[in-house]
Amino acid sequence: MKVTVVGAGNVGATCANVIAHKELANEVVLVDIKEGLAEGKALDIWETSPINLYDTRTIGSTNNYSKTAGSDVVVITSGIPRKPGMSRDDLIATNAGIVKSVTENIIKHSPDAKIIIVSNPLDVMTYCAYLTAKIDSSRVFGMAGILDTARYRSFLAEELDLSPKDIQAVLMGGHGDTMVPLPRYTTVGGIPVTELIDEEKLDAIVERTKKGGGELVNLMGTSAWYAPGAAAAQMVEAIVRDQKRVFPVCALLKGEYGMDNIYLGVPVVLGKNGIEKIIELDLNDDEKALLNDSAKSVRSVMDVLDNMDLF
Ligand code: NAI
Ligand code: 2OP
Repeated sequence: MKVTVVGAGNVGATCANVIAHKELANEVVLVDIKEGLAEGKALDIWETSPINLYDTRTIGSTNNYSKTAGSDVVVITSGIPRKPGMSRDDLIATNAGIVKSVTENIIKHSPDAKIIIVSNPLDVMTYCAYLTAKIDSSRVFGMAGILDTARYRSFLAEELDLSPKDIQAVLMGGHGDTMVPLPRYTTVGGIPVTELIDEEKLDAIVERTKKGGGELVNLMGTSAWYAPGAAAAQMVEAIVRDQKRVFPVCALLKGEYGMDNIYLGVPVVLGKNGIEKIIELDLNDDEKALLNDSAKSVRSVMDVLDNMDLF
């Protein structure tokens, strides 16, 4: 197995590091546009192999895509992150061009790859990669839901003083403040979460989750990387090990949830073919309204992409 990670910044390097440590591939190729950055980080990761006892080879490349040829999975993290006061949507002017040119290079050298987008604004950058790659949408999808549910699950674990391992949750919609955590589908060791926590505390956790990315931007002056990198690596693992895991993933909807031609976070089955199934939950009226609001917000950013005349 060969995995390429484009963008050797905070998220990309973390993702490559997790992939190597978990031996998810024989080879990980890290690519960046900044001279020497990918080579340096790849070498640094490789030098941990005798300490941490793994044999995945990690190599770096400054914008030379021939080294990525024949990748089974590609993770795209290239692009600018947000700073305090910025929303993810403010990044589109810079990141759309980056995601388009990177996807062109990737598809030229790895036409059969599954492509995972991480760059923000996530839902629209995933759409941008799909328009560029011109391959089936089952092979182009975005990472956000695993991260957002991980934040939600970690907050619940803290509040309940229980292991995060036992908390399961689904979250839908766009990767922004309109995301839709679903308490009705949240369980703790099989027990509905609503039986263990009062409504007011649960509502506060839902609100904190929606702004979870911003909380970290305000603390660090740039966006997060440990959890995002680990979340993208978990998607890689589901694909390369054909695990058929059920995750919230940013997927192209073609009639599901009554929506068409929009990338949005929904529960899917992820395996060796990429998205093998989109799971349609029987949402109640309140949940449907929240999902529709979130879709409206994603569509407004899709309009910005349309107006850029890149396609
Ligand atoms: P970073 O600034 O640390 O790294 C980005 C890297 O991309 C830089 O090293 C830069 O040189 C590289 N790059 C820029 N243009 C390139 C090109 N044309 N080809 C190759 N490399 C290029 O940023 P960080 O923190 O790693 O974030 C990366 C992206 O991921 C941002 O857009 C951020 O908003 C997004 N993000 C998304 C998350 C999600 O849940 N989907 C979570 C966290 C970050
Ligand atoms: C995050 O949620 C900013 O999308 C990035 O951390």
